[in-house]
Amino acid sequence: MGFEITIEKSEISRIKNFDPQNIGFGKIFTDHMFLANWDGNEWINPRIVPYGPLSLSPATSAIHYGQSIFEGMKAFKSQKDGKTLLFRPLENCKRLNKSAERMVMPSVPEALFMSGLTTLLTLDEAWIPKTEGGALYIRPYMFATDDFIGVKPSENFIFAIFCCPVGPYYTKALKVKVEDEFSRAAPGGVGFTKCAGNYGAAMYPTQKAQQEGFDQILWTDPVSHQWVEETGTTNLFAVIGNTVVTPSLTNTLLAGITRDSVITGLRHLGYTVEERPLSVQELKDAVVNSTLKEMFITGTAATLISIQGFSHKSEYFEVLDKGNTDTSLAIKTFLDSLRYGNITDPFGWTVVV
Ligand code: COI
Repeated sequence: MGFEITIEKSEISRIKNFDPQNIGFGKIFTDHMFLANWDGNEWINPRIVPYGPLSLSPATSAIHYGQSIFEGMKAFKSQKDGKTLLFRPLENCKRLNKSAERMVMPSVPEALFMSGLTTLLTLDEAWIPKTEGGALYIRPYMFATDDFIGVKPSENFIFAIFCCPVGPYYTKALKVKVEDEFSRAAPGGVGFTKCAGNYGAAMYPTQKAQQEGFDQILWTDPVSHQWVEETGTTNLFAVIGNTVVTPSLTNTLLAGITRDSVITGLRHLGYTVEERPLSVQELKDAVVNSTLKEMFITGTAATLISIQGFSHKSEYFEVLDKGNTDTSLAIKTFLDSLRYGNITDPFGWTVVV
């Protein structure tokens, strides 16, 4: 199915105000955005317009009942030939549609997702940072737009994409709090989706952890709080002995695309990786026995960053005291080389726009 995208260009580009040496994360937006409407039957009016406010009814159902999902992905400038590269974009489309199914929202056809994305990137290509570690963060999202009060699935939706040039999300190794009071997700719930509510509900416990001096929460299972799951913004890996361990996917965990890339990449580089339940006790024992060599987190926004240490029930466990980052550095370098087009891609993950 082909989608004809209409384009309304912004009259004046804001790019001259953009300082690539001082980007930060999530505060600067490119000149254009992509929008399409679901009218209850089909996607209509796919269009690119200048980036700016949306006009919505105060009764917009996403605001009241949370039918709202999103994705995070990045575009890079190839360091070899300057072309624009996307990293596994179809995986984001698949995951958006998995979230959509659970939240009773329409599916976005791959052709609409990719044509909206590539048309937008072609227009706003000049915003992709060429600085070390810089990228264009891309936010595809969908939300319910019925103006209706009452809990039922909306009939109308907007699918949209906008972009922000970004630097690092985290700039230093993190101290995390193993959360054993609050829960992020319950079995049978929406933990495996990227729905807005998962993040809103995490803000109170995260703020509490930050007031106690931590950077992030390490979520545990909601029943026993004995099994680690993911952090507030990423998936988690631990290097125990000679094995890299990451919690296996359940319906309470987000199936990170970076997580999958790290697992596949590490195995390609010859590392042993286990996806299995990982308990807080195993991590604590591994610190005490000096077998916990590294802990690191992975996500699109965060890329890959080390965990300095973690606290559990007020006891702090230092992980990075010996400064070991061999495994995380190896996989970070490998994935960055793919993302920036510096090596041949053995997996067919990079897509030239
Ligand atoms: C991403 O990594 O792209 C995300 O969507 C996480 C978000 C909390 C910034």
